[in-house]
Amino acid sequence: MSPIRNARIVLGVTGGIAAYKSVDLASKLVQAGATVHVILTDAGAEFVGAASFEAITQQPVHRSVFEPWRSDWHGHVSLGQLADVVVVAPATANTIAKLAHGLADDMLGTTVLATTCPLLIAPAMEHQMFHHPATQENLERLAARGVRLIGPESGRLASGEMGDGRMLEPVKIMGTIRQVLGEAGPLRGRRIVVTAAGTRERIDPIRDVGNRSSGQMGYAVVQSLVDRGAEVTLITGPASILAPVGAAVVPVESAVEMEAAVRAAVDGADALIMTAAVSDYRPDAQFSHKLKKADTGERLTIEFVTNPDIVAGIEGDALVKIGFAAETHDLLANARKKLAAKSLDMIVANDAESTIGSPVSQATFLYPDREPEMLERMPKSEVADLLADRVVELLAKRSGES
Ligand SMILES: Cc1cc2nc3c(=O)[nH]c(=O)nc-3n(C[C@H](O)[C@H](O)[C@H](O)COP(=O)(O)O)c2cc1C
Repeated sequence: MSPIRNARIVLGVTGGIAAYKSVDLASKLVQAGATVHVILTDAGAEFVGAASFEAITQQPVHRSVFEPWRSDWHGHVSLGQLADVVVVAPATANTIAKLAHGLADDMLGTTVLATTCPLLIAPAMEHQMFHHPATQENLERLAARGVRLIGPESGRLASGEMGDGRMLEPVKIMGTIRQVLGEAGPLRGRRIVVTAAGTRERIDPIRDVGNRSSGQMGYAVVQSLVDRGAEVTLITGPASILAPVGAAVVPVESAVEMEAAVRAAVDGADALIMTAAVSDYRPDAQFSHKLKKADTGERLTIEFVTNPDIVAGIEGDALVKIGFAAETHDLLANARKKLAAKSLDMIVANDAESTIGSPVSQATFLYPDREPEMLERMPKSEVADLLADRVVELLAKRSGES
C-alpha cells in the first residue's frame, strides 16, 4: 500500500505559471488516498482558482493567516503541525527567498515555520531567475537546513526559451512524496538490488531478439521496497514505464550486461530480487552490419548459445535471494526445481502466458522451508506489496541467524 494513503499533505501553491500543474498534483494525491490541504498565495490565486482545489481536495483552501478559527482549526500554525509532509509546488523565486529567510507574512510562511515534518520545494521559474546568485544562495540555504529541493527540470519554459526552471512533473513530485513518506519504513537502511524487464540479444546493429516482459512486475516490486524505506538499485532491460522515484537505475540490454551489473551492485547488498525475464539464449555471432535479404537469400539461420545463469552465479550466504519463475507448463514443479538448484530463499511462480505484459498476476510464493502461498489473481502492485512484506521477514530472519 502506498504510504501516500491516509497521509496528510499540505500543498503550497505560489504564483508561477506552473500552478496549473498543481491542480493535477492535488488530484493525483487525493486519488492515492491522501488528505490534501492547499495553501494558495495571493499571486498563486492569479493563476488558478481556489474553487478547483476545493472541489478536488474536498477541503477548504487556505489563503490568509486571518481566516476565522473553527473548533478543528487553530489558525496560522495548525496546518504545519498536522502535516506529514509539506510540499511547495510550484515554488516561486519570491517564496523561496522568503522561506530561506524565515519570513512569516503569509499562511505558507507561518505553516512552514510551524512544522517539523519534511519540506519539499519544487522551484519553477525562468532560467535567469533560477540561475541568479540570489536564488541559488537561497536554495543552498534551504538545502543546508534539510529542505528537499526537487527539480527544476530543463526544457521549454513559459517564455518560450529553453533552460533550467521547469517544475518537476506532478508524477515525479508524487514519487518523491511517496519516497519521503516511506523513509522510516521497515526496510530503512537495507540495500536491495532488483532486476526487471526483459533482456534483448543483439543480432545486428538494428535488430535483436527479446521477450514480451514489460517490466511492470519488477518496477512494482521496486516501488513497494522504496515505500518501505529500502535503498534500491534497479537493473532494467528496456522498458517503456517510468522507474519509481528513489531507485538508482542501471539500464542494460543483454543478459551478459545484466550479469555484470548485478555482480557490481550486489556487493554489500542485503537482498537480490530477480524479476527480469532474462533471455536463456543469445545469437552466437553478432553481425557488424545490417543483414540484407540480398546477402542472406531466402533463409537466414542464426545459431544461439546459452546465456549465463545470473542468480546461480552470485555467491554470498548473507544475501537474501529471490527468483521468479514464469512457465508455460508444470509451473510449480519447475519453480521448485529452480528454487533448489539456485539456492533461493523464495521463488515467485506465475503462469508465463497470462502474466507477461499484463498488469495482473496470479502468483504462488514458494520457500525451501515453508508451505507455499497461493495468491489470488491480483494487480502486480499488490503482489509486489506482499513480496516486499516477505522481504522484510526474510531479512529479519537472516539478521537473527547471523
Ligand atoms: C505571467 C506571470 C508568470 C510568472 N511566473 C513566475 C514563475 O514561473 N516563477 C516565479 O518565480 N515567478 C513568476 N512570476 C512572478 C511572481 O508571480 C511574483 O514574483 C509574485 O510576487 C510571487 O508571489 P508568491 O511567491 O507569494 O506566490 C510570474 C508573474 C507573472 C505575471
